[in-house]
Amino acid sequence: MKVCVLGAAGGIGQPLSLLLKLQLPAGSDLSLYDVAPFTPGVAVDLSHIPTDVSVSGFVGDDVEAAMQDADIVVIPAGVPRKPGMTRDDLFNMNAGIVKKLIGAGAKACPNACFAIVTNPVNSTVPIAAEILKAAGVYDKRKLFGVTTLDVIRSITFVAQAAGKSVDDVSVNVIGGHSGVTILPLLSSIDGVDLAQADIEALTPRIQEAGTEVVEAKAGAGSATLSMAQAAARFTASLVAALDGESVTECCYVQVGEDTSSFHAQPVVLGKNGVESIPPLPALSDYEQKVLDDMRGTLEGNISKGLEFANS
Ligand code: 2OP
Repeated sequence: MKVCVLGAAGGIGQPLSLLLKLQLPAGSDLSLYDVAPFTPGVAVDLSHIPTDVSVSGFVGDDVEAAMQDADIVVIPAGVPRKPGMTRDDLFNMNAGIVKKLIGAGAKACPNACFAIVTNPVNSTVPIAAEILKAAGVYDKRKLFGVTTLDVIRSITFVAQAAGKSVDDVSVNVIGGHSGVTILPLLSSIDGVDLAQADIEALTPRIQEAGTEVVEAKAGAGSATLSMAQAAARFTASLVAALDGESVTECCYVQVGEDTSSFHAQPVVLGKNGVESIPPLPALSDYEQKVLDDMRGTLEGNISKGLEFANS
């Protein structure tokens, strides 16, 4: 298995690369790329950790070399939010980065699974779809927006509220990865019966948890360590799936006929990426309203990505 991290020297990329060096199956190759000149040094640093995962580092024009024949490409590259910014405010900076990196991936590893962390995920994933389509290599089963951070935050906050171990809590999160488009399904958690008042307090907290980190970091960026753990968990699920296991993860994928239909929900992953997309779980009236209310925002985010990619 070859896993490539683009943006590997950044705030998310470094801890993500460390987690992958520790967790990828023996015999895997970990390929690190970043525009930062010290990226080969990050690779050398990680290579001294005794696991059976080989590490190589690439910089500058070597992005295609980094991705050559990769099975999975994880992309946290881009700039993070500062206090007062929404994820959408990052569009102008990050859209072009994703466009360029995916364009290189279409040449170097057209059969890879692409897992996008770069914000605004609601828009950058449709951009990636259009770029892959234009190159004639788009496979909707192999393109993902990583929304796992919303899942792990939900697990943490629900376990605290319900007085449970995090190991006994599993939460589905649907919609997208930004503010009102994040909808944790708190009414249907196995073994946890939250009061409606708790659900209505936890839902906005989960929606704004990224902003909680941005404000606490006071200008130094957004979530990096928890995001790295989330991306590592999603990558591990993809690795297991490509190896033949059937694994279910919530992620942002094309759910309909065309690229205007991206949505996060539980997805069954298998050896070709998305294996099936089960119908949404039953929603409470409150959840249905949040879902109905987010539609315009999510559709706007998707259209913005599609228009950028095709302009
Ligand atoms: C977050 O949710 C960085 O989008 C990321 O914190």
